[in-house]
Amino acid sequence: MYATPIGDDAELRPLEVWHAAELLANIDRGREFIGRHIGLADVVRDLDGARGWLKSYADKRGADAGGLHGIWLAGELVGGLLFRAWDTASGVCEAGCWLEPAAAGGGLVTRGMRVLLDWAFEERGMHRVEWYASSANEPSIAVARRLGMTREGVLRENYPHGGERTSTEIWALLRPEWPAARARAARSGR
Ligand SMILES: CC(C)(COP(=O)(O)OP(=O)(O)OC[C@H]1O[C@@H](n2cnc3c(N)ncnc32)[C@H](O)[C@@H]1OP(=O)(O)O)[C@@H](O)C(=O)NCCC(=O)NCCS
Repeated sequence: MYATPIGDDAELRPLEVWHAAELLANIDRGREFIGRHIGLADVVRDLDGARGWLKSYADKRGADAGGLHGIWLAGELVGGLLFRAWDTASGVCEAGCWLEPAAAGGGLVTRGMRVLLDWAFEERGMHRVEWYASSANEPSIAVARRLGMTREGVLRENYPHGGERTSTEIWALLRPEWPAARARAARSGR
């Protein structure tokens, strides 16, 4: 299987329908942590749920309307990066991510997203990558900041989740901003 190394014995690989059991195991190891701010843990409840969600991304990939990549650490699927929306006509896409808790705190998502940002901007000619995060999701907001994104606004109480209405911050990075953001990250080592 082709893979892109992202350091620390970690690799980015396409995440496909045949990984359903691995995905379910990954979500099971981090169900509460992963489900705190996003709906993924609710969708991937069992093997059928995992298969169905992976199939929805295979369909998006087939239509050039989204994408999904797993993060494998020492051979185990520990999380993923996705383009939930991908619109080539407008040049706008939306990225997202998750990790199981044992794999958090090591920069895997930030490093993996930089690979995908290079690909989105430079190979695919995207103009704008968006990042939606709950206002309460500090680690996700920190990823957006580390990637050099700009906070553009807040959708107040737009997302009912876990019995509450939560607010969503919108962060985004534009193609002309990416080279400087990438260079800043290379200088800081983060
Ligand atoms: C959002 C989420 C993926 C962020 O995980 P994360 O591990 O904090 O993000 P990264 O993998 O980029 O790692 C960054 C951390 O590693 C540290 N780090 C270590 N080496 C690093 C490196 N080379 N580059 C960047 N960061 C590095 C950073 O300092 C940071 O730690 P800190 O927050 O203690 O300062 C995680 O909290 C998660 O899965 N949450 C549940 C699902 C979810 O909410 N997804 C987001 C939807 S919008």
